[in-house]
Amino acid sequence: MGSSISFPEVEISPERTYLITGGNSGIGYIAAREIARMGGHVIIACRNMVKADAAIKRMQEEYEEHLTSKQSPADISELKKLNIEKMELDLASFASTQRFIETFKARNCALDVLICNAGVVTDKEITEDNHELMLQVNFLSHFIITVHLLPILLKCGEDSRVMSMFWLNRHLKDKSVSIISLHPGFVDTQMTRQNIYSKYFVSGFAKKAVDGGATTIKAAVDPNLQGQSDIYLDLCKIKSPSSLSRLVKNCSMRESQ
Ligand SMILES: NC(=O)c1ccc[n+]([C@@H]2O[C@H](COP(=O)([O-])OP(=O)(O)OC[C@H]3O[C@@H](n4cnc5c(N)ncnc54)[C@H](OP(=O)(O)O)[C@@H]3O)[C@@H](O)[C@H]2O)c1
Repeated sequence: MGSSISFPEVEISPERTYLITGGNSGIGYIAAREIARMGGHVIIACRNMVKADAAIKRMQEEYEEHLTSKQSPADISELKKLNIEKMELDLASFASTQRFIETFKARNCALDVLICNAGVVTDKEITEDNHELMLQVNFLSHFIITVHLLPILLKCGEDSRVMSMFWLNRHLKDKSVSIISLHPGFVDTQMTRQNIYSKYFVSGFAKKAVDGGATTIKAAVDPNLQGQSDIYLDLCKIKSPSSLSRLVKNCSMRESQ
Protein backbone atom coordinates (compact mmCIF):
# COMPACT_ATOMS: atom_id res chain seq x y z
CA MET A 1 0.00 0.00 0.00
CA GLY A 2 1.45 3.40 -0.96
CA SER A 3 2.22 5.91 1.78
CA SER A 4 -0.39 8.35 0.49
CA ILE A 5 -3.21 5.94 1.26
CA SER A 6 -2.19 4.14 4.39
CA PHE A 7 -3.81 3.89 7.79
CA PRO A 8 -2.09 3.44 11.15
CA GLU A 9 -2.04 -0.11 12.53
CA VAL A 10 -3.15 0.43 16.12
CA GLU A 11 -4.19 -1.84 18.92
CA ILE A 12 -7.88 -1.34 19.61
CA SER A 13 -9.49 -2.20 22.93
CA PRO A 14 -12.05 -5.02 22.60
CA GLU A 15 -14.37 -2.71 24.53
CA ARG A 16 -14.63 -0.33 21.57
CA THR A 17 -17.60 -0.99 19.30
CA TYR A 18 -17.61 -0.04 15.61
CA LEU A 19 -20.90 -0.16 13.73
CA ILE A 20 -20.48 -0.30 9.94
CA THR A 21 -23.48 -0.13 7.62
CA GLY A 22 -23.03 -2.31 4.54
CA GLY A 23 -19.99 -4.12 5.97
CA ASN A 24 -20.55 -7.23 3.86
CA SER A 25 -18.99 -5.85 0.68
CA GLY A 26 -16.40 -3.52 -0.85
CA ILE A 27 -14.99 -0.72 1.29
CA GLY A 28 -17.14 -1.59 4.31
CA TYR A 29 -15.96 -5.20 4.21
CA ILE A 30 -12.28 -4.19 4.23
CA ALA A 31 -12.88 -1.68 7.03
CA ALA A 32 -14.78 -4.25 9.15
CA ARG A 33 -12.08 -6.89 8.68
CA GLU A 34 -9.14 -4.58 9.45
CA ILE A 35 -10.75 -2.96 12.50
CA ALA A 36 -11.60 -6.41 13.89
CA ARG A 37 -8.01 -7.56 13.23
CA MET A 38 -6.80 -4.62 15.32
CA GLY A 39 -8.99 -5.88 18.17
CA GLY A 40 -12.19 -3.84 17.94
CA HIS A 41 -15.71 -5.21 18.37
CA VAL A 42 -17.35 -4.80 14.96
CA ILE A 43 -21.03 -4.95 14.02
CA ILE A 44 -21.88 -5.03 10.33
CA ALA A 45 -25.42 -3.83 9.57
CA CYS A 46 -26.60 -5.47 6.35
CA ARG A 47 -29.79 -5.99 4.41
CA ASN A 48 -29.01 -9.60 3.49
CA MET A 49 -28.18 -11.91 6.41
CA VAL A 50 -26.89 -14.70 4.14
CA LYS A 51 -24.37 -12.29 2.62
CA ALA A 52 -23.51 -11.00 6.10
CA ASP A 53 -22.78 -14.51 7.41
CA ALA A 54 -20.68 -15.31 4.34
CA ALA A 55 -18.73 -12.06 4.77
CA ILE A 56 -17.97 -12.74 8.45
CA LYS A 57 -16.81 -16.27 7.60
CA ARG A 58 -14.57 -14.94 4.82
CA MET A 59 -13.07 -12.25 7.08
CA GLN A 60 -12.08 -14.91 9.61
CA GLU A 61 -10.60 -17.14 6.87
CA GLU A 62 -8.62 -14.26 5.38
CA TYR A 63 -7.33 -13.29 8.81
CA GLU A 64 -6.17 -16.87 9.42
CA GLU A 65 -4.54 -17.07 5.97
CA HIS A 66 -2.78 -13.77 6.64
CA LEU A 67 -1.41 -15.05 9.95
CA THR A 68 -0.32 -18.41 8.55
CA SER A 69 1.60 -16.67 5.80
CA LYS A 70 3.43 -14.41 8.28
CA GLN A 71 3.95 -16.28 11.50
CA SER A 72 5.46 -19.39 12.99
CA PRO A 73 3.18 -22.31 13.99
CA ALA A 74 3.68 -21.35 17.66
CA ASP A 75 2.21 -17.88 17.06
CA ILE A 76 -0.66 -19.32 15.08
CA SER A 77 -1.79 -21.38 18.06
CA GLU A 78 -2.74 -18.03 19.66
CA LEU A 79 -4.97 -17.19 16.75
CA LYS A 80 -8.00 -15.27 17.89
CA LYS A 81 -11.56 -15.30 16.68
CA LEU A 82 -12.43 -11.93 15.19
CA ASN A 83 -15.14 -10.21 17.20
CA ILE A 84 -17.57 -9.46 14.35
CA GLU A 85 -21.32 -9.84 14.41
CA LYS A 86 -24.18 -8.90 12.12
CA MET A 87 -27.45 -7.00 12.46
CA GLU A 88 -30.25 -6.66 9.95
CA LEU A 89 -30.80 -3.26 8.34
CA ASP A 90 -32.41 -2.28 5.05
CA LEU A 91 -31.74 1.41 4.58
CA ALA A 92 -34.26 1.52 1.74
CA SER A 93 -37.06 1.06 4.29
CA PHE A 94 -37.81 3.42 7.19
CA ALA A 95 -39.62 0.53 8.95
CA SER A 96 -36.47 -1.62 8.79
CA THR A 97 -34.31 1.34 9.83
CA GLN A 98 -36.56 1.98 12.83
CA ARG A 99 -36.49 -1.73 13.79
CA PHE A 100 -32.71 -1.68 13.58
CA ILE A 101 -32.50 1.38 15.86
CA GLU A 102 -34.84 -0.19 18.45
CA THR A 103 -32.93 -3.50 18.37
CA PHE A 104 -29.61 -1.72 18.76
CA LYS A 105 -30.87 0.36 21.68
CA ALA A 106 -32.35 -2.72 23.36
CA ARG A 107 -28.93 -4.40 23.42
CA ASN A 108 -27.70 -1.70 25.82
CA CYS A 109 -24.24 -1.99 24.33
CA ALA A 110 -21.70 0.75 23.77
CA LEU A 111 -21.17 2.48 20.45
CA ASP A 112 -17.89 4.30 19.89
CA VAL A 113 -17.75 4.69 16.12
CA LEU A 114 -20.62 4.78 13.64
CA ILE A 115 -19.50 4.33 10.03
CA CYS A 116 -22.26 5.31 7.61
CA ASN A 117 -20.79 3.38 4.72
CA ALA A 118 -23.59 1.60 2.83
CA GLY A 119 -24.65 3.20 -0.39
CA VAL A 120 -26.12 2.70 -3.84
CA VAL A 121 -25.94 4.51 -7.13
CA THR A 122 -29.23 4.29 -8.97
CA ASP A 123 -31.35 6.30 -11.28
CA LYS A 124 -34.90 7.15 -10.31
CA GLU A 125 -35.91 4.04 -8.32
CA ILE A 126 -38.52 4.84 -5.66
CA THR A 127 -38.69 3.23 -2.22
CA GLU A 128 -41.74 1.94 -0.32
CA ASP A 129 -41.56 5.25 1.59
CA ASN A 130 -41.88 7.16 -1.66
CA HIS A 131 -38.38 8.59 -1.73
CA GLU A 132 -35.75 8.31 -4.40
CA LEU A 133 -33.80 5.14 -3.47
CA MET A 134 -30.33 6.68 -3.51
CA LEU A 135 -31.45 9.61 -1.35
CA GLN A 136 -33.07 7.34 1.24
CA VAL A 137 -30.28 4.72 1.41
CA ASN A 138 -27.28 7.04 1.26
CA PHE A 139 -28.59 10.01 3.25
CA LEU A 140 -32.00 9.92 4.94
CA SER A 141 -31.80 6.58 6.75
CA HIS A 142 -28.21 7.20 7.84
CA PHE A 143 -29.22 10.57 9.19
CA ILE A 144 -32.07 8.98 11.20
CA ILE A 145 -29.74 6.31 12.59
CA THR A 146 -27.15 8.91 13.53
CA VAL A 147 -29.63 11.13 15.34
CA HIS A 148 -31.10 8.17 17.28
CA LEU A 149 -27.76 6.63 18.21
CA LEU A 150 -26.05 9.94 19.03
CA PRO A 151 -26.93 9.76 22.76
CA ILE A 152 -25.19 6.37 22.97
CA LEU A 153 -22.14 7.72 21.12
CA LEU A 154 -22.01 10.75 23.42
CA LYS A 155 -21.97 8.48 26.49
CA CYS A 156 -19.02 6.49 25.20
CA GLY A 157 -16.08 8.48 26.44
CA GLU A 158 -13.65 10.85 24.82
CA ASP A 159 -13.20 9.35 21.40
CA SER A 160 -16.51 8.76 19.71
CA ARG A 161 -16.81 9.31 15.99
CA VAL A 162 -19.42 9.44 13.25
CA MET A 163 -18.17 8.96 9.73
CA SER A 164 -20.04 9.53 6.56
CA MET A 165 -19.27 9.38 2.90
CA PHE A 166 -20.75 12.78 2.20
CA TRP A 167 -22.41 15.18 4.57
CA LEU A 168 -23.48 15.42 8.24
CA ASN A 169 -20.86 17.85 9.54
CA ARG A 170 -22.99 20.93 9.43
CA HIS A 171 -25.89 19.18 11.16
CA LEU A 172 -23.94 17.83 14.13
CA LYS A 173 -20.93 20.06 14.52
CA ASP A 174 -21.77 21.36 17.98
CA LYS A 175 -21.79 17.91 19.56
CA SER A 176 -18.77 16.49 21.36
CA VAL A 177 -18.41 13.66 18.90
CA SER A 178 -15.94 13.76 16.02
CA ILE A 179 -17.67 14.09 12.69
CA ILE A 180 -15.57 12.98 9.75
CA SER A 181 -16.63 13.06 6.11
CA LEU A 182 -14.55 11.17 3.64
CA HIS A 183 -13.96 10.28 0.05
CA PRO A 184 -12.31 6.89 -0.60
CA GLY A 185 -11.24 7.60 -4.19
CA PHE A 186 -12.42 5.60 -7.20
CA VAL A 187 -12.55 2.02 -5.93
CA ASP A 188 -13.20 -1.31 -7.64
CA THR A 189 -16.29 -2.60 -5.80
CA GLN A 190 -19.65 -4.09 -6.77
CA MET A 191 -20.98 -0.51 -6.96
CA THR A 192 -18.49 0.72 -9.55
CA ARG A 193 -18.51 -2.58 -11.45
CA GLN A 194 -22.30 -2.50 -11.85
CA ASN A 195 -22.73 1.18 -12.61
CA ILE A 196 -23.35 1.84 -16.29
CA TYR A 197 -21.05 4.88 -16.31
CA SER A 198 -18.13 3.69 -14.19
CA LYS A 199 -17.88 -0.01 -15.09
CA TYR A 200 -15.79 0.65 -18.24
CA PHE A 201 -13.13 2.53 -16.25
CA VAL A 202 -12.80 0.17 -13.28
CA SER A 203 -10.15 -2.13 -14.69
CA GLY A 204 -7.87 0.72 -15.80
CA PHE A 205 -8.31 3.36 -13.11
CA ALA A 206 -9.92 2.09 -9.91
CA LYS A 207 -8.08 1.18 -6.72
CA LYS A 208 -8.48 -2.29 -5.31
CA ALA A 209 -11.01 -2.44 -2.46
CA VAL A 210 -8.19 -3.26 -0.08
CA ASP A 211 -6.62 0.17 -0.77
CA GLY A 212 -9.96 1.92 -1.14
CA GLY A 213 -10.80 0.96 2.44
CA ALA A 214 -7.78 2.82 3.82
CA THR A 215 -9.46 6.23 4.16
CA THR A 216 -12.40 4.73 6.06
CA ILE A 217 -10.09 2.77 8.37
CA LYS A 218 -7.88 5.80 9.03
CA ALA A 219 -10.91 7.92 9.92
CA ALA A 220 -12.11 5.22 12.30
CA VAL A 221 -8.89 4.37 14.13
CA ASP A 222 -6.24 7.11 13.73
CA PRO A 223 -5.52 8.41 17.26
CA ASN A 224 -4.45 11.77 15.77
CA LEU A 225 -8.03 12.41 14.68
CA GLN A 226 -9.39 12.10 18.22
CA GLY A 227 -11.34 15.21 19.19
CA GLN A 228 -11.20 16.70 15.70
CA SER A 229 -14.49 17.60 14.16
CA ASP A 230 -15.89 18.87 10.94
CA ILE A 231 -13.04 17.42 8.92
CA TYR A 232 -12.91 15.97 5.45
CA LEU A 233 -10.56 13.12 4.55
CA ASP A 234 -9.80 12.55 0.91
CA LEU A 235 -7.55 9.55 0.15
CA CYS A 236 -6.36 9.52 3.77
CA LYS A 237 -5.44 13.23 3.80
CA ILE A 238 -7.29 16.08 5.50
CA LYS A 239 -8.46 18.40 2.75
CA SER A 240 -10.80 21.31 2.20
CA PRO A 241 -14.19 20.25 0.92
CA SER A 242 -15.00 21.23 -2.66
CA SER A 243 -16.12 24.78 -3.38
CA LEU A 244 -19.65 23.45 -3.98
CA SER A 245 -19.96 21.90 -0.52
CA ARG A 246 -18.39 25.01 1.05
CA LEU A 247 -21.07 27.02 -0.72
CA VAL A 248 -23.81 24.79 0.75
CA LYS A 249 -22.22 25.12 4.19
CA ASN A 250 -22.07 28.93 3.93
CA CYS A 251 -25.70 29.08 2.79
CA SER A 252 -26.72 26.95 5.76
CA MET A 253 -24.78 29.18 8.19
CA ARG A 254 -26.47 32.28 6.76
CA GLU A 255 -29.89 30.61 7.12
CA SER A 256 -29.26 29.84 10.77
CA GLN A 257 -28.20 33.44 11.61
N1 LIG B 1 -16.38 2.66 -4.92
C1 LIG B 1 -16.15 3.96 -5.12
O1 LIG B 1 -15.43 4.34 -6.04
C2 LIG B 1 -16.77 4.99 -4.20
C3 LIG B 1 -16.45 6.33 -4.41
C4 LIG B 1 -17.00 7.30 -3.57
C5 LIG B 1 -17.84 6.91 -2.55
N2 LIG B 1 -18.14 5.59 -2.37
C6 LIG B 1 -19.05 5.23 -1.27
O2 LIG B 1 -18.48 4.19 -0.50
C7 LIG B 1 -19.54 3.45 0.13
C8 LIG B 1 -19.28 1.96 -0.02
O3 LIG B 1 -19.43 1.61 -1.37
P1 LIG B 1 -18.60 0.48 -2.09
O4 LIG B 1 -17.87 1.11 -3.20
O5 LIG B 1 -17.86 -0.34 -1.09
O6 LIG B 1 -19.78 -0.36 -2.77
P2 LIG B 1 -20.38 -1.81 -2.49
O7 LIG B 1 -19.32 -2.84 -2.52
O8 LIG B 1 -21.51 -1.91 -3.45
O9 LIG B 1 -20.92 -1.70 -0.99
C9 LIG B 1 -22.12 -1.05 -0.70
C10 LIG B 1 -22.70 -1.67 0.54
O10 LIG B 1 -23.94 -1.02 0.83
C11 LIG B 1 -24.91 -2.03 1.05
N3 LIG B 1 -26.27 -1.56 0.77
C12 LIG B 1 -26.79 -1.17 -0.41
N4 LIG B 1 -28.09 -0.89 -0.27
C13 LIG B 1 -28.40 -1.14 1.02
C14 LIG B 1 -29.59 -1.05 1.78
N5 LIG B 1 -30.76 -0.70 1.21
N6 LIG B 1 -29.56 -1.35 3.09
C15 LIG B 1 -28.39 -1.75 3.67
N7 LIG B 1 -27.24 -1.86 3.01
C16 LIG B 1 -27.25 -1.56 1.70
C17 LIG B 1 -24.53 -3.15 0.11
O11 LIG B 1 -25.21 -4.34 0.49
P3 LIG B 1 -25.47 -5.53 -0.60
O12 LIG B 1 -24.17 -6.28 -0.72
O13 LIG B 1 -26.57 -6.31 0.00
O14 LIG B 1 -25.83 -4.87 -1.90
C18 LIG B 1 -23.04 -3.17 0.35
O15 LIG B 1 -22.72 -3.87 1.53
C19 LIG B 1 -20.83 3.92 -0.51
O16 LIG B 1 -21.48 4.83 0.35
C20 LIG B 1 -20.36 4.66 -1.76
O17 LIG B 1 -21.26 5.68 -2.14
C21 LIG B 1 -17.62 4.61 -3.17
